[in-house]
Amino acid sequence: MTITTAVSHPNIAFIKYWGNRNDELRLPASSSLSMNLAGLQTRTAVEFDSSLRNDTLLINRDTASQDQQRRVSDFLDLVRQLASIKTKARITTESNFPSGAGIASSSSAFAALALAASTAAGLSLDEQSLSRLARRGSGSAARSVPSGFVVWQTSDKDGDSFGVSIAPPEHWALVDCIAIVSEREKAIGSTEGHKLAATSTLQAARLAGAPHRLELCTKTILDRDFSTLADLIELDCHLMHAVMMTSHPPLHYWMPASLAIMEAVRGWRRDGLSVCYTLDAGPNVHVLCPAGEADHLCARLEGIPGVIRVLRAGPGGPARIID
Ligand code: DP6
Repeated sequence: MTITTAVSHPNIAFIKYWGNRNDELRLPASSSLSMNLAGLQTRTAVEFDSSLRNDTLLINRDTASQDQQRRVSDFLDLVRQLASIKTKARITTESNFPSGAGIASSSSAFAALALAASTAAGLSLDEQSLSRLARRGSGSAARSVPSGFVVWQTSDKDGDSFGVSIAPPEHWALVDCIAIVSEREKAIGSTEGHKLAATSTLQAARLAGAPHRLELCTKTILDRDFSTLADLIELDCHLMHAVMMTSHPPLHYWMPASLAIMEAVRGWRRDGLSVCYTLDAGPNVHVLCPAGEADHLCARLEGIPGVIRVLRAGPGGPARIID
């Protein structure tokens, strides 16, 4: 039996994905845009073995929970269907960053799994098909398949919703300084959260402006226009969190230290620094800046009470097979 290994980077969304138009197919309510995070990565090995009675899954050398096993087996069923096989698989996966750290760990997990499993099953999917497949495991994984800065288009059709790179990693040396304020797993995960989005009366307003924000964000990236990007990223983050906080039941992800960092970053920007923030479904704060400012900013972030540590990542490449 051959073992196939793939690596993939998580990504941070500048224009967020929150809510689906089809939960089963993970067709998002709106298009989103993100940057892959170099240095942070998930490495996944897959081996189909006819002697196995069930799929087996080891995450960071530990046996996975039943929920994790089920989610991965359901995903492998899609791969088996595509490859017309029934064989079970042995999967081992390791990430070099904490999974509860508010970094979309499911993005790199399912991008790496989609590539390793489809290759191990004898398929040779092009980038669009691979991104569509990864999307079925976790929406944000669709954006971790292509390289650099990636747009994931919404659609009513399964065949039309996949990630496309709009610029390679070397296009713009941005750095994401991730201020970790909690390493606990979140109580309500994204999959449940997406289902609640429509219960907020604010979601319709958020979605109405989403195409314009996506277009503007694409332009600011192509033009390397940090100051427009800064305002836009924060606005899009606040809109998503406003929906979360006003859904039923409400979701509150910010902690006092998150707010202290957000306040500090806004102050630094008023003082003339090129810096802005965004938060996913968790309390940790992604502080973005041009590479030249990163040393200085990470040191400042480390000095804020409540910050446990700061991870740092520039723009990353695509999901890929390794020997
Ligand atoms: C807040 O991709 O983690 O990070 O499809 O259920 O796995 P599932 O959700 P997921 O949602 C990500 C939500 C977000 C925003 C974003 O990354 O766009």
